[in-house]
Amino acid sequence: MPAPPGFRLPPPLQLAWLIKDPAGFYAAGRRRFGPIFQVRYPGLPPEVCVATAELAEEVFAVDGGAGRAGDIRRTFVGPLVGEESLLCLDHEPWWRHRRLISPPLHGRAVASWRDTIAEIAAAEVASWPSGTPFAMRPRMEKITLEVIMRVVFGIRDAGRMRRLRALLPELVGLGGSAALLRLPPKVRDRALTSPSLLRMGALPTTRYVRVRDTVDTILYQEIARRRAAPIPDANDVLSQLLAARDERGEPLTDQELRDELMTLLQAGHETTATALAWSFERLLRSPDALGRLREELAADDDGPYLGAVVKEALRARPVVLGAPRTLDEPVRIGGYDIPAGWYVSASIPLILSDPDVFPEPGEFRPERFLGENAARANKGWVPFGGGRRYCAGAQLATLEMRTVLSEVLRRVQLTAVRPNPEKPRLKNVTLVPARLTEAVAWPIYANLASVRVGGG
Ligand code: HEM
Repeated sequence: MPAPPGFRLPPPLQLAWLIKDPAGFYAAGRRRFGPIFQVRYPGLPPEVCVATAELAEEVFAVDGGAGRAGDIRRTFVGPLVGEESLLCLDHEPWWRHRRLISPPLHGRAVASWRDTIAEIAAAEVASWPSGTPFAMRPRMEKITLEVIMRVVFGIRDAGRMRRLRALLPELVGLGGSAALLRLPPKVRDRALTSPSLLRMGALPTTRYVRVRDTVDTILYQEIARRRAAPIPDANDVLSQLLAARDERGEPLTDQELRDELMTLLQAGHETTATALAWSFERLLRSPDALGRLREELAADDDGPYLGAVVKEALRARPVVLGAPRTLDEPVRIGGYDIPAGWYVSASIPLILSDPDVFPEPGEFRPERFLGENAARANKGWVPFGGGRRYCAGAQLATLEMRTVLSEVLRRVQLTAVRPNPEKPRLKNVTLVPARLTEAVAWPIYANLASVRVGGG
């Protein structure tokens, strides 16, 4: 069969629709054309989107042969993370990096960071205003940034921490800004490298390069210091990467290390903060789930319901829109022949709202992931993508989510400022709650005191 059907709208209008209403754009594609359809954006090859877990398996299967995930990402985030980043590499160089980076982000290594994450979350909650509305997502970003600096970069020096605390949000903000991400790649790359353009201090690209160079200096100094004097028994990712050797016994070079630190910052900071913001946005509008979670937390700070809440939050409000691959050869997917050079993409929000796998997908129901329902729900659960390019930080992200939810809910009562759900909005490359999860918090002890006073 020839390529799948798609909208007749010109590519610029499809892009405008995607930016205005990302969820609505893809949902309209599924409604109109079924579980596999084509979208077009200006200057890019046609993209075939799939909307079921079975079809996503066919997309992820291309990772073993004709598909390249790094190629597309290099177009968009290459200048932000560097040429040697796991995100942007393909084939053998990708595999070499993935083998080195996976052990520090798995199993016992990740579990050992729980107390540090809890400490970071508790310190942040202590600074929240009491009884006045505030946006939770920026607070979540502060937590996830601190986690990256301490458990990924392993920075211990207070002065360097202070400087990075100021510089990294600026770097991520400028790097992910529409001005940089939505510029045609050729124009952007020129603005990032041309000496005459870099003299124009007001350009966002020039400001980005200045901040990036300052951060790079700090990171390269940190790498040199730690190579010269490794910290004994350190369990941060950088320490483990410094000690790692590939199959030929070679370590990662300084530039490879810097690019991977930047990758983990860019891939792990905003995504996890957004996922946490959505978790609270959903819980504050789901009193039964919040009540059951609070009950469980009173007895156990890491029980099964907490795990189910994390999974359901990532299902009901996925953070990432898609997991695309460039095809090097023609591939047959869902019975269609997709030509070489096209993109194929697992459309994460569509797969996670497939009513055959998640009945009443609009409902927030963590119970889907418990008991006899769990097997079916887990099969269609793709918030972290799939195949060989499955998110390298998924274990860290879910540990952060469980730990932060537990620390926050044990310390404060939270209510939503408005009862209506917040709409998803595209910010950089993630789907954020439009009002950044507006909430009001009260310390739990204050509530208890007022209950006692009122009842006394
Ligand atoms: C809730 C938070 C997160 C979400 C929803 C998320 C989602 C994703 C998705 C959808 C992909 C693409 C998978 C594919 O193409 O099949 C990905 C890749 C990746 N993620 Fe995450 N991520 C999160 C947190 C993190 C964290 C905390 C880190 C590390 C600190 C991280 C590091 C990476 C890396 C390095 C890749 C590229 C893997 C490769 O190409 O081999 N992510 N993530």
